[in-house]
Amino acid sequence: MSSALMSTYQPLPITIEKGAGVWLYDTEGNQYLDAFAGIAVCNLGHCHPHVVQAIQHQASLLMHTSNMLTIANQEKLGLQLTALAHMEQAFFCNSGAEANECAIKLARLYGHQRDIKNPSIIVMENAFHGRTLATLAAGGSRRAQAGFEPLMSGFVRAPFDDIAALQKIAAQSTDIVAILLEPIQGEGGIRTPDPHYLTQVRQLCDQHEWLMMVDEVQTGMGRTGHLFAHQSAHIIPDVMALAKSLGNGFPIGACLAAGRAKDVFHVGNHGSTFGGNPLACAAALATLEVLQNNPLLDHVQQIGAYLQHQLQRALNDLPRVIEVRGTGLLIGIEMDAPCRALLALCAKKGVLISVTAEKVIRLAPPLILTTEHADKIVQVLSDVISEWV
Ligand SMILES: Cc1ncc(COP(=O)(O)O)c(C=O)c1O
Repeated sequence: MSSALMSTYQPLPITIEKGAGVWLYDTEGNQYLDAFAGIAVCNLGHCHPHVVQAIQHQASLLMHTSNMLTIANQEKLGLQLTALAHMEQAFFCNSGAEANECAIKLARLYGHQRDIKNPSIIVMENAFHGRTLATLAAGGSRRAQAGFEPLMSGFVRAPFDDIAALQKIAAQSTDIVAILLEPIQGEGGIRTPDPHYLTQVRQLCDQHEWLMMVDEVQTGMGRTGHLFAHQSAHIIPDVMALAKSLGNGFPIGACLAAGRAKDVFHVGNHGSTFGGNPLACAAALATLEVLQNNPLLDHVQQIGAYLQHQLQRALNDLPRVIEVRGTGLLIGIEMDAPCRALLALCAKKGVLISVTAEKVIRLAPPLILTTEHADKIVQVLSDVISEWV
């Protein structure tokens, strides 16, 4: 079939027509268990009735007015999100990259307000923060950056999960203003740091008055069994980027600020035409309501542990599997070679998976996954990987 789309993606020839819960249905009448939830987006499952109803209601009332006028849903969402995160202020945008752009701008302004002429942000090897020019430069993928030089300056790269490397930078540099990192690296291959790492980063940031900026675009909204993944370390960041599942499929992003990151922006410093519009905020408010009213976080911890355990039992001895790892319902299966071919093979057997960092199968199913769903994922993966040559 001819296409008028730019060739930025290589989609499977499967056209999904509708979705409900963990299930997706294509135009040929096939049913799939969605084991990656639109890249960690539809955390409550597809077309959650409460979110659908909130969107329908708001769409019939008012969709957009701009930030030139007060938006009641945005005010309400700001209060709810900051309370849940124990943070203080929110800026709303439309995607994860935009949420990180906001964080990067905030950190630079914070630096200039402290008379630091060339404010620099420490970023991590293997990090992923988005595809805009600033977030591309902040990310650690040379492959994603290639061809888009000159890359934006103002970033200092450090190995992930290596506090000594950060201390070394602290001893050598005077223009650092912030550290930007994912609590668990998602696109980088589902890499969870040492349990003390985030606490140590927090301490280092406090010691040097740097902003600790966490990118929870992929790990946030319950994905790891905590509302936000950094909460497992009992810390509060200065800045947090959110998007993906914030609207359970409706596009919305947020940059939250607290402590020394509060009140850095003033009128005119940042903006967005669509950011925080009534419709997107209605979707996010409904998503938050469901997340808060269900014992979903405990469920994620239990079902995530079950899925990971069953995967380890079924896959660990297969010759091509290097490791099964992850937290909550963000699970990676590292293979011994690039494994994109597995996408179509699993789809043929009715399970949709994703692959990241070339060799890592990423599972990020809706958080409402049951043991029966988990068993199906394990069965299909184990069959497909055993037969994979
Ligand atoms: C950690 C992280 N940050 C930022 C982004 C970019 O989000 P978006 O694609 O909504 O711009 C992603 C997307 O995968 C991500 O995983």
